[in-house]
Amino acid sequence: MRMYDIILKKRNGGELSEEEIRFFVEGYTSGSIPDYQASALMMAVYFQKMTERETAALTMAMAHSGDMLDLTAIRGVKVDKHSTGGVGDKTSLALTPMVAACGIPVAKMSGRGLGHTGGTIDKLESFPGFTTALSREQFIGNVNRIGIAIMGQTADLAPADKKLYALRDVTATVDNLSLIASSIMSKKLAAGADAIVLDVKTGSGAFMKEEQDARALAEEMVKIGTRAGRKTVAVISDMDQPLGYAVGNALEVKEAIETLRGRGPADFTELCLALGSRMLLAGGKAETEKQAREALEKAVADGSALEKMAEFVEAQGGDSRAVYDPSLLPKADLTLQVASPAEGYVSRIVCDEVGMCSLLLGGGRETKESKIDLSVGLVLCKKVGDPVKRGEALAVIHANDPGRAEQAAERFLAACRISEKEPAKRPLIRAVIGEAHPA
Ligand code: URA
Repeated sequence: MRMYDIILKKRNGGELSEEEIRFFVEGYTSGSIPDYQASALMMAVYFQKMTERETAALTMAMAHSGDMLDLTAIRGVKVDKHSTGGVGDKTSLALTPMVAACGIPVAKMSGRGLGHTGGTIDKLESFPGFTTALSREQFIGNVNRIGIAIMGQTADLAPADKKLYALRDVTATVDNLSLIASSIMSKKLAAGADAIVLDVKTGSGAFMKEEQDARALAEEMVKIGTRAGRKTVAVISDMDQPLGYAVGNALEVKEAIETLRGRGPADFTELCLALGSRMLLAGGKAETEKQAREALEKAVADGSALEKMAEFVEAQGGDSRAVYDPSLLPKADLTLQVASPAEGYVSRIVCDEVGMCSLLLGGGRETKESKIDLSVGLVLCKKVGDPVKRGEALAVIHANDPGRAEQAAERFLAACRISEKEPAKRPLIRAVIGEAHPA
């Protein structure tokens, strides 16, 4: 088999066989196929697309390119959750203790990632001392003992995807539906869960700006997961404005804690309940959505979800006192209010731009080597649809540098639109794909 023939076949619109896809993935991972041939194939895929069969074959080949995690030593149905990412998306921080408190074992691999804030692991490192450097035995032991453990993604998890994603990033071939679906699902399948709940975002702060594209991605991923024998459900949720109010690592941790106390923002709380109920249903802990939501609400009301967070933080070396006293989390030196220039309704908050404000303040990584400032970010005071008076605060910037605070404030203001007319509401949950259970 020759890589040249595989590229030519795809370039001309042919369907690659499972063998040809495996040949490419194995050769690229081992280094026998060079970057320039892999780039040519990715560009051919970008233009010619892949069939459902090809996408499934690419996913399985990438999933098997490294370790397939064996979680059978963990008791119960393991349910993983994945978000396609967005601004202020701190869902894993609140959701994992909520479902763990309801008896779903959470054995999760998370990332750091580039972007406007850190990934889940960076956010968790706001707890002084917190570490994700767990051995496999500690990881499994913690899940069996307290019901929750989160570790960093190992180099051996889907290494083909790691190499290919980095290549796609610099060859303008990221935004292809089959390539995104196979990239995400290869890691999820290799991470070993029995069931997977996907949060696919749509709107100005999401990968998939248009709802129809988010829907197509969700359908593709659900098909891949189901084909691989994992119960898979996708929730399509709005990301046209930041989720909740807080954007920035420690600020988001604080908001997640508030949510576990039952005092979280309405949209964020609703998303946790929507995703959490699908996790409980997939894990056999509820038979109807209503039952699942009630169980999650009870775990918040009786304090068991908050206690679960404290146990988890403590088990991974973190200072769990911060769960009960968030003033112990990193705090920025200064705050700056962004005042509304007019009276009316907030009709738009361009989500990507709010993310850029956080990045500008030092809350995210521009390159893999960048160091994150966990204390900075911004907290919205108004969401889309809220009335606002002239001079009233739209947001508060948390910064360690006055110059950057001013720049972020200007940029945030430019991202907001104030209109005379109340804007139409965008529903938070757009659709659920792949679900079969009573409401
Ligand atoms: N996230 C991934 O893991 N892979 C992609 O291709 C896009 C988003």
